[in-house]
Order: sequence, then structure tokens, then C-alpha cells
Amino acid sequence: MQDKKAIIAIDGHSSCGKSTVAKDLAKELGFVYIDTGAMYRTVTLFAMRNKMIVDGKIDEVALLQDLSDINISFKYQPEEKLNETFLNGESVEQQIRGLEVSNNVSAISAIGFVRKRLVELQQEMGKEGGIVMDGRDIGTVVFPDADLKLFMTASAEIRAQRRFDELTTKGEAVDFNAILENVKQRDHIDSTREESPLMQAEDAVVLDNSHINKEEQLEWIINVLKERNLA
Ligand code: DC
Repeated sequence: MQDKKAIIAIDGHSSCGKSTVAKDLAKELGFVYIDTGAMYRTVTLFAMRNKMIVDGKIDEVALLQDLSDINISFKYQPEEKLNETFLNGESVEQQIRGLEVSNNVSAISAIGFVRKRLVELQQEMGKEGGIVMDGRDIGTVVFPDADLKLFMTASAEIRAQRRFDELTTKGEAVDFNAILENVKQRDHIDSTREESPLMQAEDAVVLDNSHINKEEQLEWIINVLKERNLA
């Protein structure tokens, strides 16, 4: 194990299990887990609640004005193995996972000033190392010198099925085709936006988990870490 605690960056497509892997890995290593997607989702919820998104159109002037009023924090809940997300002290973990937020979050995360603010917060949260951070631009923008960069992917159909199962388990009435459409649409927006598009870092290790389970992928990552003397 190295002296300075490592920074592990996990990027990849939406709904391919990044947060599950990141959470398990953080637990295994005794690291802090930071879900940056939850941060973009929280800003989206804030904008929705304050009527800054109407029919998909965003009032960027109003959002920029109120951006510094958005305080985002996390609290790890060990029993549920859940990293609960808070907006100005209120738990918003449930609300930020719903379809309405999912439908608006790509547009919010394409705004330059939102990204700038959240990237600064993420760099601050991870500067001491000992973190596993997942998102879309962690290995390319937030921590380009991360000790390990993983790029995760899986087919759109498999990702939509996983999201469908997750939401139905929570009791949400959802339509599979609507979810598949949302997954594909988000892939498109995330990869083609001007600001920090989803890209695989040149030095990232690719993990396609379409056909492996979560125990297998955790073992696979731990082996990569051992090869690099990071675990
Ligand atoms: O990982 P997720 O599905 O919860 O992410 C929600 C959205 O936020 C997704 O559409 C992409 C965006 N996102 C981003 O642009 N940059 C990040 N670092 C994390 C998420």
C-alpha cells in the first residue's frame, strides 16, 4: 500500500452499475465514496422545485443567481449501505432518483457554470485521497492524475433493465421502453455535449459488465489495484 491514499476515478455510461461498484470498492478499501451524479441530480431537483425548468427549458440566469445557495452533502448510512444525499440539510435521496429528475439532469449537467461549481466541490472533497469517485468526467477533468481510472460500460438494453428493476423494486410504476429511451437519450446528450463530454480517458481501464456479476467485477478491480500496488 502506498503512503498517500489513492484516488480512484470511475467513469462510464449511465445505469451501468458504477455506483454499486464504487460503493463496494470504497467499503473494501476503507475509502470515502462520492457519487457525482447525485450532485448533478440535486442541482436539477433544486432547479425543478424553484420553477427554473419549465417544459425542459432552463432559466439559466435564475439558476446562476441561486447557485451558491445550493449546499450538497452526503452521509453514509451503514445499515442500508447507502450514501444519502442532502440538499441544504434535507435528505433528497429518494427524489433525485425519480424519472422526472432523470429526464432533466442531462440538460442541467450540460451547463458550463454548473459543471465548474461542482467540479470545484468534487476536487475539494477528494484532495486528501482515499476516495472512490464516480461520474462522467472524473478521470478526464476532476482528477486527471487519479491513481486508477476505470471506464465502465454495458449495453443500453441491459442498463435499462437494471434501472427498471431498481425502480419497480422501489414501487415506482414505470414503463421499460420509456426507460430504454431515457438511457439512450442520456448517452447521446452526455457524449455529445460541449462541456466535458463523456469520454474514456486514454489511460483508463475498460470494464464491460454486461455479462459479469458484481462480485466478479469487484474481484477484477481489486486485482488491478494489487497489480498497481494500490491494494
Ligand atoms: O450517474 P447518474 O446517472 O446519476 O448521473 C446523472 C446525470 O449527471 C447524467 O445524465 C450525467 C450527469 N453527470 C455528469 O455530467 N458528470 C458527472 N461527473 C456525473 C454525472
